Amino acid sequence: MLTSTITNEHFHTRVLGLLNAYTQNSADASQPLPLIPALDHPDTPLGPNDTVGQLVTFTSSWIDLSSPDPLIAHLSRHVFHLEIAYAAFCGASTVVVPGPRLAHGQHGVSQFARSIKEALATASYVSFHVQLPMDASRPGVETDDLGDLARFARPEFEPKNEVKAVTPWSAWEAWDTIRSICKYHNRLSVALDLPRRMPPLALQSRWFSEPVRLLHLPAATFLVNARQSFVLSKAHQAFIFRCMRLQRAPWLLLSDIGQLPGVDDPDMVMSYSTGHLSPRTAEDAPIPESSADIAPTPAEAAQLAQKLRKKISSSNDPTPHLSYLRYMQRNQPPKSQIERFGGGFQDYLQSPLQPLTDNLESITYEVFEKDPIKYAWYERAIAQALRDWHGKRRSTSSVSGAVVIAVVGSGRGPLVTRALNASASTGVPVQVYAIEKNPNAYVLLQRHNVETWKGRVTVVKTDMRAWKGPTQPDGTVGKVDILISELLGSFADNELSPECLDGVQHVLNPNHGISIPSSYTAHFTPIATPKLWADLYNRSTSIDPTAFDIPWVVMLTQLDYLSTDAKETPASQQLTNGTKMTNFNLEAPLAPNVQTAWEFSHPLPASVLAQSSLRKGGSAVGGGGGFVGGDGANEHNYRHCKIVFPIQEPGVCHGLGGYFETVLYSGSEGPVELSTNPATMEAKSKDMISWFPILFPLKVCLVISKT
Ligand SMILES: C[S@@+](CC[C@H](N)C(=O)[O-])C[C@H]1O[C@@H](n2cnc3c(N)ncnc32)[C@H](O)[C@@H]1O
Repeated sequence: MLTSTITNEHFHTRVLGLLNAYTQNSADASQPLPLIPALDHPDTPLGPNDTVGQLVTFTSSWIDLSSPDPLIAHLSRHVFHLEIAYAAFCGASTVVVPGPRLAHGQHGVSQFARSIKEALATASYVSFHVQLPMDASRPGVETDDLGDLARFARPEFEPKNEVKAVTPWSAWEAWDTIRSICKYHNRLSVALDLPRRMPPLALQSRWFSEPVRLLHLPAATFLVNARQSFVLSKAHQAFIFRCMRLQRAPWLLLSDIGQLPGVDDPDMVMSYSTGHLSPRTAEDAPIPESSADIAPTPAEAAQLAQKLRKKISSSNDPTPHLSYLRYMQRNQPPKSQIERFGGGFQDYLQSPLQPLTDNLESITYEVFEKDPIKYAWYERAIAQALRDWHGKRRSTSSVSGAVVIAVVGSGRGPLVTRALNASASTGVPVQVYAIEKNPNAYVLLQRHNVETWKGRVTVVKTDMRAWKGPTQPDGTVGKVDILISELLGSFADNELSPECLDGVQHVLNPNHGISIPSSYTAHFTPIATPKLWADLYNRSTSIDPTAFDIPWVVMLTQLDYLSTDAKETPASQQLTNGTKMTNFNLEAPLAPNVQTAWEFSHPLPASVLAQSSLRKGGSAVGGGGGFVGGDGANEHNYRHCKIVFPIQEPGVCHGLGGYFETVLYSGSEGPVELSTNPATMEAKSKDMISWFPILFPLKVCLVISKT
């Protein structure tokens, strides 16, 4: 990728001349604001050629679209408009626009946003990247140009009210205003300037969730290690690695690193950097201690980089910064199980499965069955339940004394196999039933029974709620000792597990009957997911007006947790505990505050089911129907909750991230649990891949402030 400005110094000089001429005559109050004549051939290095679509083009940094002075704002807007129109005419596809001057405050940001909105309309094929500092209190790129139009702003237009001080968050706040005014336009994103010292993790996480298409690393971002090599701090390494794992990874742009040797000589053969560096060359630099080192001004940083460049130029690497980035590329941490499995699914919206209404395809079952954890944990739970049953010398529901197991909703049969394995490993005999309503899966179950299970299983094709129970040798209907099911959705009950299990509970041994799972809980946390919100907004205004009305299953990746716990995480500890970059944990560095919404447990007390059936019966004593329609038989499964989430930083909530936990079985050996909750998944069922989280999007995103 090459970069180019859209106009050049010739044009700049022309505009300054015009400004000068105008201000000379400023005594004439009737004079209209000046017009900038159309671009001349010498004003621009660009032209419509084959390569222009590959260029990263830049609008002028010497304009001030957010100026409070109407003259400067007008000229800036005019320059900007000419540049955008010409870049679009030439076929440029990428334009970087230096962000608003934050010191002008909110009004200036809105003014800037209006220009961007106009540009999006003028140039319909161009993507715009607004260039902003990651930490607004340490702007990495500052124009100290004598020709900067901002210098000519007239003092009488200085805002009277004290403008809010620029804080580290000001750039993010400005971005939030710009993209909101531009309605989360899909051609609008961020070019982020990385500072020498990374800001607090909360601000890093916020930027990670935003559509950053370009990470800009000025030379001053680099530290110098004992070997006098340019390297990045651990915080930079971790942030860059996380960004590079995104579905749409940003480009990395190096600046101020000096002329590339031979760049002007088309005949020179340049050896390009491979990133093969010795461990000492790429060794981390000590974290700067003196405040000057921590936060050099941009001018100091540039000087420092220049000094070091001279010193280091004696080494034979002509592009040491690039070499280090390539070194990082070579030394990325390996992908986790979930990243490997979910490759193409990051932040991809899927409508939740409805396995009760729909009959799943074989391929869907096949995907579940790849889970390395879920089935193993079910087998552990079943084995523990069998050992406990046997150990407590409980009577069974079979004539033979075998423990009667029914896998209800057995799909293609993986849990049936696990139940048979558990019986074999514990030595507790079982009698197994496989109940499935999907007629297509039923065929496979029968085939499995012949070919794999050697006829040890009774396969029944029915809705579990209509199943009367195991038929005994004498023709009577018996009971089941252990009901095994996996009817859980991403938010626990959203695939109707409670309703189905209530409906089959009548077959369960009323004294000792066990349900695996024995309980499940739904959990959620407020999140910022601008990308997903923009996707849903676009759908809702085009193909699917109900896009915001339903929850979505999605491998949430580019998100920011808005409510976090103060506790350390492996991803935050690794920044100071000497962890090597190849071993980095690329999860969110701040632990989310995930709260429990509600719980379901099985089997239900008999009195609850008796009341449900009374309501269903429709008699006068049955209470006259449900509170929100229906016969009221499912009223006991109604849930609601109110939860307060402390908020640490200002933000925008785009929705709730939903998860679940389940206790499969809890007996004498302790609980066997599954979890997709980011706060507990690592401990309970690390590497489980069967469920992605669920997103409850907000139609109107919620601006939230620090509590
Ligand atoms: C999520 S799949 C799990 C399949 C299998 N147990 C596994 O773990 O791979 C749920 C299965 O339950 C079945 N199912 C859902 N509701 C049912 C019902 N009321 N009666 C019988 N089967 C049901 C579906 O057809 C589907 O095969």
